[in-house]
Amino acid sequence: MKDYYVIIDCDPGIDDAMAIMNAVRSENIEVNLISTVSGNLTIEETVKNALKLTEIFKVDIPVAEGAKEPVKRQAVYASKAQGTKGMGGFTFPTPKKKPFILKSPDAIHYFLCQNPARNTTILCMGPMTNIANLLIKYPEAKDMISRIVFMGGSKDENGSTIPYREFNVAYDPEAMQIVFNSNIPLVMVPMELGHIAYFTPEEQLKIKRANAVGEIFYKMFSKYNDFHVGKLGAAVHDSCSALFLSNPEIFTVEPAFIKIDYHKNDGQEYGYINCDFNAKEHNAMVCVDVDIEKFKKIIYGNLFYYN
Ligand code: RIB
Ligand code: CA
Repeated sequence: MKDYYVIIDCDPGIDDAMAIMNAVRSENIEVNLISTVSGNLTIEETVKNALKLTEIFKVDIPVAEGAKEPVKRQAVYASKAQGTKGMGGFTFPTPKKKPFILKSPDAIHYFLCQNPARNTTILCMGPMTNIANLLIKYPEAKDMISRIVFMGGSKDENGSTIPYREFNVAYDPEAMQIVFNSNIPLVMVPMELGHIAYFTPEEQLKIKRANAVGEIFYKMFSKYNDFHVGKLGAAVHDSCSALFLSNPEIFTVEPAFIKIDYHKNDGQEYGYINCDFNAKEHNAMVCVDVDIEKFKKIIYGNLFYYN
């Protein structure tokens, strides 16, 4: 019996790719759908990358195309960090597999309805545009989702004068606001976890030497410019949210009140998550730390499946 029925919503994306591998290799979660959204790249690239990743990871999980644009603002992609095709230095052959017949949010709604227990977990590893569109089109969907585990935002307790501009929030803060308003239980996995969860160049070589899938990750990492950790290594932010689902015991979480605020800087207004651990009421659990040795051991174990 699987502990969780899971729908992944993501924008692959190099760290999304490693997170998908971890999720589909986990013994205790069952991924019913991989829904894609524009974010790191255009939707055309992210859905193609997700289709190809299911072929590489040898899993027959439906992949749905989702939102092309944020709910309100213009798309600003992250090709600088992720490479022009979103897979760093790895060029994919065109996938044979076709996208699911329904597009998100209809695809997400379809799979929520397939789960009789109505307790699906949404693992959100990109902008929340599809989830916002789901709640707008199908308000009853909120009663079929047990919780949303999402990679996004910063847990910085307003320590810095200029709030941190984390990509998934900044790309579509209005979507995140719609999701927060639904009161679906939230688990936030902030970008500071990626400051701990990164693979050094030596560890990337270990990944490369593991097998053919490791070689693909190595090529992806070769052009991955994640400025969070710079030359220290490849920050695998999204894997932190995937492993929170499969192995919550290796994480430390604290309750907080999180809300979307906006900050004007150099003529631009961007959204960020204001995370208050001292608030009287809480609306989210926030991951504040991870046992990095165990984290990496689990990922190596998932990778070695492909030996
Ligand atoms: O800030 C990191 C997040 O933005 C990750 O989900 C990465 O894939 C990018 O989407
Ligand atoms: Ca992502």
